Amino acid sequence: MILHNSFNTNEKGHLTIGGLDAVCLSREFGTPAYYLDCNAVRAMCRMYKSNFLKYFGEKSLPVYAGKALCFKGLYSIIAEEGLAADCVSSGELHTANAAGFPMDRVFFHGNNKTDADLAYAIRLGVGLIVVDGLDELAALDRIAGEAGIRQNILLRITPGIDPHTHQKIVTGNVDSKFGSAIMTGQAFDIVKAALACKNINLKGFHCHVGSQIFDIEPFSEAAEIMLAFIAKIKGETGYSAEILNIGGGFGVRYTEEDPEIDYENNIRMLGERFDSICREYGMEKPSISMEPGRSIVAAAGATLYTVGSVKEVTGFRNYVSVDGGMPDNPRYTLYQSKYTVVNAEKADAAADYECTLAGRCCESGDLLAEGIKIAKPQRGTILGVLVTGAYNYSMASNYNRIPRPPVIMIEDGKARVGVRRETFDDIIHLDI
Ligand code: LLP
Repeated sequence: MILHNSFNTNEKGHLTIGGLDAVCLSREFGTPAYYLDCNAVRAMCRMYKSNFLKYFGEKSLPVYAGKALCFKGLYSIIAEEGLAADCVSSGELHTANAAGFPMDRVFFHGNNKTDADLAYAIRLGVGLIVVDGLDELAALDRIAGEAGIRQNILLRITPGIDPHTHQKIVTGNVDSKFGSAIMTGQAFDIVKAALACKNINLKGFHCHVGSQIFDIEPFSEAAEIMLAFIAKIKGETGYSAEILNIGGGFGVRYTEEDPEIDYENNIRMLGERFDSICREYGMEKPSISMEPGRSIVAAAGATLYTVGSVKEVTGFRNYVSVDGGMPDNPRYTLYQSKYTVVNAEKADAAADYECTLAGRCCESGDLLAEGIKIAKPQRGTILGVLVTGAYNYSMASNYNRIPRPPVIMIEDGKARVGVRRETFDDIIHLDI
């Protein structure tokens, strides 16, 4: 096993993904290409589902955050596994609906949903709209009224927590574009406003503290703050929240330097925390939920590239350039995120060649990793970047008019195309 169950080495010394030889896969599907071990995705879904039932309560359902990875084939798996889904745009709603996802199991998020987004969500029968602020509340009340329905909602609350992750992926701070803050009194105001809306049915609250969090402390703090808020609302208005969703954020191991994560134990500890806080306040436990994205798909994914050049800048460093880069994985450029890189043809050989992994874009910052060590590659070698299942394909672009790679789904020892490779004609498809 290399880092996670989905990656291994076979008798030829090749990298395997979901049990299949990465070099053979590359011959069949070309490079660059994303791979997703669907058995590993299903295992994470089952882990979340069974432990939420066990520790969060019988009505608790994990909500898969589709922003991490979104395409029809994946939504079918999420639906089959019985999870709910979090969508953040009409595009994600459209994808879920096209995949036949039960839309009453969808949570619709976003800090700036347009009237068209809200109307589309209502038309598709989205189960819960997570309302971000007063402007959206008023618009939704009007649009739901026009549609002749009473829309179930959660209110997004900012609990004011700094989870010590990368600044760009912190979302629970008071100074945030998301939600209504408890500290400023705006959270209380929006609850009163929601309860007064004719076409809105307030089901409960949502918060999200951040992403790639290894420690349960920020979630535990969020639980405390949110349950105290729910108790205060109950005392002052008589309103009892049925649902509390504390967002996503469980971390994933990208390199050996990252700690191993015991998700089950984290869920158990959080569940116990919820129980003890509810006992303290003498309140009935709301239905608790979380929205994992990264931790469901990241470790099931890998990207395979072909090396185009190995350049040694004497006295400086060695550049290994591949046929992809920031358009298929912008995370190093954006967040300096670290990845485990493997020479897929010599996965069991000594990783002793220090290099920078560069992309093919016309931009010096287009790097995938720096200071890594791999078995020395040459032009034509297949390289694997592991743990790319989350926030890679979903954040991919066509910068430099580079076509996006396909997503290949591996399940029970078989590989199939989940998203086909873009063609040059796809690239000019929208040009008039
Ligand atoms: N729920 C809400 C409201 C969120 O904002 C997010 C992530 C999630 C759930 C899922 O969180 P996860 O379990 O995946 O950590 N592009 C960044 C990550 C941005 C996360 C934004 N929100 C990255 O590549 O690291």
